[in-house]
Amino acid sequence: LIAGGQGVVGASLVRALLDAGHEVLTLDPRDDLSLVHDIADQFERRQGSVLDVGQNAELLRDERIDTIAHGAVFDAQGADPFASLSVNAYGVLSMLEAARRAEVPRLVFMSSKAALGQFIGEYGSPTYAPLPPEHPRGPMVGLEVYSMAKRFAEESGELYADRFGLEFVALRFATIVGPGKQVRHGPTSVHSRMIENAIAGAGTDVAHGGEGFDDMVYVKDVAQAIVCACTCESPPRRAYNIGSGRLVSLTEFAEAVRRHVADVEITIGPGVDYIPVPSSSCLMDISAARAELGYEPAYDVDSAVIDYVATVRGLGLASEVNSAQSGWKG
Ligand SMILES: NC(=O)c1ccc[n+]([C@@H]2O[C@H](COP(=O)([O-])OP(=O)(O)OC[C@H]3O[C@@H](n4cnc5c(N)ncnc54)[C@H](O)[C@@H]3O)[C@@H](O)[C@H]2O)c1
Repeated sequence: LIAGGQGVVGASLVRALLDAGHEVLTLDPRDDLSLVHDIADQFERRQGSVLDVGQNAELLRDERIDTIAHGAVFDAQGADPFASLSVNAYGVLSMLEAARRAEVPRLVFMSSKAALGQFIGEYGSPTYAPLPPEHPRGPMVGLEVYSMAKRFAEESGELYADRFGLEFVALRFATIVGPGKQVRHGPTSVHSRMIENAIAGAGTDVAHGGEGFDDMVYVKDVAQAIVCACTCESPPRRAYNIGSGRLVSLTEFAEAVRRHVADVEITIGPGVDYIPVPSSSCLMDISAARAELGYEPAYDVDSAVIDYVATVRGLGLASEVNSAQSGWKG
């Protein structure tokens, strides 16, 4: 069962699981088929919320679900902290409880580097030392609603693993790039904005971030990592880093967009941070995911951009020009 299965990652995961021969059921309050309309008859869908513990326990039991991949997320920017934390924190606890009641053995949680806080010192700019998988959830400068939710969710999963023996695995994703992100994640999806503006023949002006680097992972690699975590034999850790294992600058990414999509003007302003969450870029050490889950990223910047465009065109997704900045003033 994929909670949040109609989202950017969920849709890619549906395809990857079907390709690997699994049966899939999605749980999502929306029945938005824009990212999966070509395979809609190959999996089951249930409209519902992760918050409904009783109903979901019944669903899990009735459908004899053996693994949950939890990627439901709402208002990631935390504009409405109550609604955001309800789904992004309490919603994970709710699915853990539904899993316990229905005796589902494993829940793979789509976490984020945001669970770790900010990357300062050796892990931040300009050194970007590879972030080890055992890096502790560190202090946050300011309280980011999304980070709070990811931390609470991971800690809840660890509690359920300790207390009830549930296999809980958190995958901490680097910055994900994938079709559908611009529509769903708005101006924070800087990479998607560059690609989709270029598909529409327009350039992009990114106010900040030309001096920074980040680990950027293509959504199909993310889906592969989740399949690995869902299907491998007893993962020995409760948290893994999932990234590309490489640093990419926005300038390098923009060059790939110009090479493979359209020769439009892309300007990138100064500074290190390209979204208004300071020090949120890092390089992930993915060696544990490689060795213990069998994860192996397949996409570099060029192949990710090429596949992104082919997917947008293949699905008939219209690209609209987005000139919004990432919440930055000026
Ligand atoms: N996109 C990224 O860059 C990124 C990076 C790190 C981690 N993640 C994590 O990966 C996961 C998937 O992200 P995404 O990019 O696919 O997000 P998305 O917004 O594209 O998809 C999330 C899905 O969750 C669904 N949802 C919302 N409320 C729900 C509820 N109450 N019950 C069930 N489903 C609900 C939405 O309808 C949507 O289809 C999230 O946990 C996110 O935090 C994403």
